[in-house]
Amino acid sequence: MYLSFFGLSERPFSLAPDPRFFFMGTSHQEARTQIEERRGLVVLTGEAGTGKTSLLLALRERLDPEIAVTHVFNTTLPFDGMVEFMLEDLGIAKLEESPAMRLAALSGFLSAREQAGQRTTLVIDEAQNLDVPTLAQLGALQNMDGTAPGKHLQILLVGPPELEARLEHSDLQHLWAAIGARCRLRPLDAAEVESYIRGRLRIAGAHDTGLFSQRAIRRITQYSGGIPRVINTLCDHALLFGYADHKRRIDRHIVNHAIAYLKEGAHAPRTPVAVDDPAALESTASNRTRQMLTIAGVALASALLGFALTFLGG
Ligand SMILES: Nc1ncnc2c1ncn2[C@@H]1O[C@H](COP(=O)(O)OP(=O)(O)OP(=O)(O)O)[C@@H](O)[C@H]1O
Ligand SMILES: [Mg+2]
Repeated sequence: MYLSFFGLSERPFSLAPDPRFFFMGTSHQEARTQIEERRGLVVLTGEAGTGKTSLLLALRERLDPEIAVTHVFNTTLPFDGMVEFMLEDLGIAKLEESPAMRLAALSGFLSAREQAGQRTTLVIDEAQNLDVPTLAQLGALQNMDGTAPGKHLQILLVGPPELEARLEHSDLQHLWAAIGARCRLRPLDAAEVESYIRGRLRIAGAHDTGLFSQRAIRRITQYSGGIPRVINTLCDHALLFGYADHKRRIDRHIVNHAIAYLKEGAHAPRTPVAVDDPAALESTASNRTRQMLTIAGVALASALLGFALTFLGG
């Protein structure tokens, strides 16, 4: 396993959104401030893999325990299913059987907190999956008793940039008008990519956070476009290739090797190699080398045969 080879205590570039590894980039910090300060409807968008879910999980860890928070991650649920999930998640005793009763229980809970001046946050991740009627129903929760929008309630809708377009739907005009803040996560810039990589290595127990050369990091920045999910996949593969080649320092060549491997994987379906199993990777690489040598051998033999036939024939 490459961990002991590089003196690591755990995988630094796992794809699991682990709050211990959270890196606060500039745009993450800007979004954090908005999310902590704004009430009403807040929309958080960002391209896939920029860290929306990671930010939500990191914020949840740091949240004031007085704030009631529910995080809905499964937006394939119908609205009633989401209400049921929220009741459960908020720890509200749920004796009500019908959807209308459940909705009334949630509204009652939100109203009571509102009147007591207590903050409540409803987070809906992957909100782009919601249809227009469901979004409208969610928006209506802001106005629980039909009078005025709550001052202490926050509904945070999270998704890719297309989410903004969905909210522009003509049936959601009231919702659109109620948006109190829009935050957009951006890819990391070059300096952030370097801090991100070194930070992850440090948290994973590396003694030498300079494990990746400067040129290697520049290549990673270029290939990933600063998207953390891509950085993780690439760095994890680069460590595997470094281990397989007995190189303790990851240079640009190793990163290029990993990029070629990832690109090939993207174009040609192949049996995936478990990234935790470098032996499998090595055997796949040597199989590939053997295959290429065989193909080259066959090509050379047929060229010689063709030449001989032409020569003899002539
Ligand atoms: N700011 C960050 N700090 C640490 N790790 C991050 C950060 N952003 C992203 N990652 C890493 O990249 C992976 C993808 O991030 P995440 O799932 O949060 O992205 P997302 O924006 O929610 O993507 P999607 O649009 O696909 O839901 C995470 O599992 C995590 O490992
Ligand atoms: Mg996400």
